[in-house]
Amino acid sequence: MNTKIFKINPDNPQEDKLTEASEIIKKGGIVAFPTETVYGLGANALNENAVSKIFEAKGRPSDNPLIVHVANLEQVEKLVEEIPQEAYKIMESFWPGPITIIFNKSKIVPDSITAGLPTVAIRMPNHKIALDLINKSELPIAAPSANLSGKPSPTTFKHVKEDLTGKIDAIIEGGFTGVGLESTVVDITTGIPTILRPGGITREDLMNLFSEVKMDPALHDSSAIPKSPGQKYKHYAPNAKVYVIQGMVTDIQKRIELLYNEYSLQGLKVGIMATNQTEKLYEGKLTINVGDRLNPETIASNLFKALRNFDDMKVDIILAEAIDDDGIGAAIMNRLNKSAGGNIITAKED
Ligand code: TXA
Ligand code: MG
Repeated sequence: MNTKIFKINPDNPQEDKLTEASEIIKKGGIVAFPTETVYGLGANALNENAVSKIFEAKGRPSDNPLIVHVANLEQVEKLVEEIPQEAYKIMESFWPGPITIIFNKSKIVPDSITAGLPTVAIRMPNHKIALDLINKSELPIAAPSANLSGKPSPTTFKHVKEDLTGKIDAIIEGGFTGVGLESTVVDITTGIPTILRPGGITREDLMNLFSEVKMDPALHDSSAIPKSPGQKYKHYAPNAKVYVIQGMVTDIQKRIELLYNEYSLQGLKVGIMATNQTEKLYEGKLTINVGDRLNPETIASNLFKALRNFDDMKVDIILAEAIDDDGIGAAIMNRLNKSAGGNIITAKED
């Protein structure tokens, strides 16, 4: 399949190119587009056949449901059974933005979108190209992240091109995504709002609206079954083996030095994922600085790109520093720990 590229300016999108891209969606094709979190791979959410093409192109397991992207409240009303008070509060405060709400679904939502669940995930993205594409196609657009299943989500056009060229109808090239991690997924169908996947809108943000906000137990207990099916898969995995090193920053840094030397002696190529605070301490070693510990949004924004860059450098081992698990740090550590597939080392002074 020939994949068409539309280069569109995210600040001032070219109408004619957007119209062409929306025609592809209307005709049942699949188009990758930027959002403020990561690039998505979109199709008409009401067309089973179009949706099946997404699963095929990504190699995505069919039991992992998709998020439906909307541009207005009328679209939400058609997709859900009812809009509870909790949802109105979240939508008023954070939409358009990086939070996905789980609703009880209406009959028009195809089973392939929800993987047979009685609920549907909906989000209004805060990105001009994404919103214009939805408006022009006059359809809700189902879109998972535009990566091959299992790989780190794409935050640049280049990532999408690498994973999906030849497999999809078109890619909109529209710059770097901002947040860099996928949206928060929050379930409001069970009374107390429950975070199924941490993301750009944090638990602390939601606590400003509700007296109680739960975290899905599966986020911290690997024996519990996650309510968000996507959370059960190994995810965000670069080709290299990832180790996360946690503890006090000075202990982390010392342990990483030791591990770096140990693996290098074994003839392996090692890369360190460092921060502004530690980068200089690893002088002479292969290092990518992902951002600032005091401004973890910068780390969120660069994380997936760094994982993919290490793959481009063909490293065998990535040693990644853990960061604090609060605020957006919860989402960063969720993705990092998954990319490590359980390889978590606690560094302690002895
Ligand atoms: O930021 C994002 O959310 C990006 C951009 C493109 O919007 N999209 C994204 O989609 O990350 P995806 O498919 O990679 O992740 C969707 C997550 C999965 O973990 C899936 O299991 C969960 O949402 N999900 C979808 N429908 C659900 C439902 N009805 N109940 C529980 N979890 C659901
Ligand atoms: Mg994904």
